[in-house]
Amino acid sequence: MGNLADRVALITGAGDGMGRQHAILMAERGADIVVNDVDGAKAEETAAEVRKTGRRVQVEVCDVSSVAAIGRMVANGIKALGRIDILVNNAGFGRRQQTHEVGEADFDQMFGVHVKGSFFCTQAVLPGMKERRRGKIVNISSIWGMTGANVSPHYCAAKAALLGATKAWAKELAPFNIHVNAVAPGGVLSGGPLKFYTPEQLQERASHVPLKRYCDPREISYAVAFLVSPEADFITGQVLSPNGGETIVGI
Ligand SMILES: NC(=O)c1ccc[n+]([C@@H]2O[C@H](COP(=O)([O-])OP(=O)(O)OC[C@H]3O[C@@H](n4cnc5c(N)ncnc54)[C@H](O)[C@@H]3O)[C@@H](O)[C@H]2O)c1
Repeated sequence: MGNLADRVALITGAGDGMGRQHAILMAERGADIVVNDVDGAKAEETAAEVRKTGRRVQVEVCDVSSVAAIGRMVANGIKALGRIDILVNNAGFGRRQQTHEVGEADFDQMFGVHVKGSFFCTQAVLPGMKERRRGKIVNISSIWGMTGANVSPHYCAAKAALLGATKAWAKELAPFNIHVNAVAPGGVLSGGPLKFYTPEQLQERASHVPLKRYCDPREISYAVAFLVSPEADFITGQVLSPNGGETIVGI
């Protein structure tokens, strides 16, 4: 049994990529998992992996940009597994568009999933965390939320917004012993990079990273699992960016 024994974690977008690996690693470390995804088949695949660890799992299929759906998801999760101690706001997607290509619907969906979804998932889990005076929340931002990029300005803005919310929540919720941090991954071999780039393009992009590679999704899970563990009880309002050294700057 690991250092997340008897915790219950809700991970959004856990049907694929990094979210799936977060779910499996946290279950290996002792947590029961609420697996959320908008894609039910993928969520079930993750749930099957989680069950292999012996931990309990509850699948909640919904789009986190709907506040009503979030309310049902959190209520069902608590009913099934008792409470929610850990929330990872991971659900998201990339979209390669330049500013002139971004329509109102694109913008609303980008902010709806990443910002509104994370905001209202957090709001929904807070009453129980405040009552128990214990909670861990990790918002999944991106290296692009810190550095920007020459594409996807709405994605960069949404991921930067999550950093602002992380810092505000860390201050607001510290009196309740609720820790809120962000993980801002660099290049990961999941989601957008696999969809948008050929293997040759990925290799070229990785050549600009000091460690010369993109990472396996599980390498991000180690950062997330650390931040939600008791080992990180003095860490709140911080941004941890596993990125192979891509954002090293001078003093
Ligand atoms: N892959 C990268 O290099 C990278 C880098 C930095 C940050 N990120 C961020 O990490 C997170 C995970 O990315 P990934 O690469 O694992 O992506 P992924 O596409 O492999 O997995 C994302 C999952 O989220 C689900 N999802 C999407 N919209 C949803 C919604 N509205 N409600 C519920 N579920 C939804 C998808 O169905 C999918 O299963 C995202 O927030 C992404 O922006 C990714």
